[in-house]
Amino acid sequence: MHLTREQERALNGEFGWAYAKALEIIVKVGESLGADRLISISHAHISGVSYSNIGEAGLEFLRDFHREKPRFRVYTTINPGCVDYGMLSKVIDNKFVEKQRQIDDVLVGMGARPVFTCIPYYHRPPMPHENLSWGESSAAIFANSFFGARTNREGGPLALASAITGLTYYYGLHKDENRVARVLVKLSPKVADMPLSLTGLWVGENVRKIPFITLERKPLEEVKALLASMAASGFHAMAVLENITPRNTYGIEIEETLTIEVGDVERYIAEKPSGDDEVLGYIGCPHTHPSELILLKKLIEKYKSPRRGRLLVTIPVEFLSTYEPLIKFLVSRGVDIASGTCPVVSTLSRRFDIVLTNSGKAYFYLRKIHGLRVGITGIRQIVESVYR
Ligand code: F3S
Repeated sequence: MHLTREQERALNGEFGWAYAKALEIIVKVGESLGADRLISISHAHISGVSYSNIGEAGLEFLRDFHREKPRFRVYTTINPGCVDYGMLSKVIDNKFVEKQRQIDDVLVGMGARPVFTCIPYYHRPPMPHENLSWGESSAAIFANSFFGARTNREGGPLALASAITGLTYYYGLHKDENRVARVLVKLSPKVADMPLSLTGLWVGENVRKIPFITLERKPLEEVKALLASMAASGFHAMAVLENITPRNTYGIEIEETLTIEVGDVERYIAEKPSGDDEVLGYIGCPHTHPSELILLKKLIEKYKSPRRGRLLVTIPVEFLSTYEPLIKFLVSRGVDIASGTCPVVSTLSRRFDIVLTNSGKAYFYLRKIHGLRVGITGIRQIVESVYR
């Protein structure tokens, strides 16, 4: 890989151990992929920051970097941790609160914004063509597909290294020639009426190249769910969405056309509550957008409190103050609000018989990691299952 003279000096430790180590991580990953140089980035988003997921080994890794007290060189945000920062939730178990605080102190001490959310674009929407280094698969695919920005789907350590150096390797979706849609995906009329999470799960499992997807309805929360699901069930980091993905940020060379039929997605909706099942309704994976909270308020207004289980909603920490009246209203109607976390990166305080969610990503991971029964349905149906 070609390095500038300054990058060579940094690699040799002239700017300190932390910078040298961070640069070494980026150079090694880049060289293993065949990248020939480094490029500057303007925003790093660090995933893998939950103590539930990374444990002592991860905390030690972060501490090693923090010893020299380096400052992040670019705008840096961090993913959810494993505790409910607002302390409102009865569903999220806060048993690792002290350990999570240590992780947060290290990252914030280096200059990260304490947003604790997987929708970093809410805090700083990227521009088309802007180079980023984002961990968190749902955020990376959203950056490429919705904003036309450029990021590979990074792991937490690489994004941390990019935050310290302000650099990443020039490869993959940073290059025009790799941002080309090759599979045209159409939705049959019935599938088009179903939650877009279902389409996302199917595309993730069945399409290997960048898809071009035609969508009839495009509310932001549905697009967010579609892309996150695709990134969860597959390795996608980009989709081209008709009339959404900014022009001039992708190419099209269609090699294959696929149509998704109801039979393709039925198994994702097969799980339904029965009898006395205690239901956990879950909305907010990726974290809720304000539009989803407003919709939720409308749906919940006619009910006083849940009758069958709980409704968990996960939000970015900042919403606690920005949308305080809305949050207070939802709490007054028995909604369990957890901020800066989610059930995938934390532990639940109790067991439920079944989870109903609008999120394909939650469907994928709650079954896989926590072994729960999970069914996908719309926000209205989730509310009705818990409250009616
Ligand atoms: Fe975010 Fe947790 Fe889902 S980090 S994308 S809410 S799995």
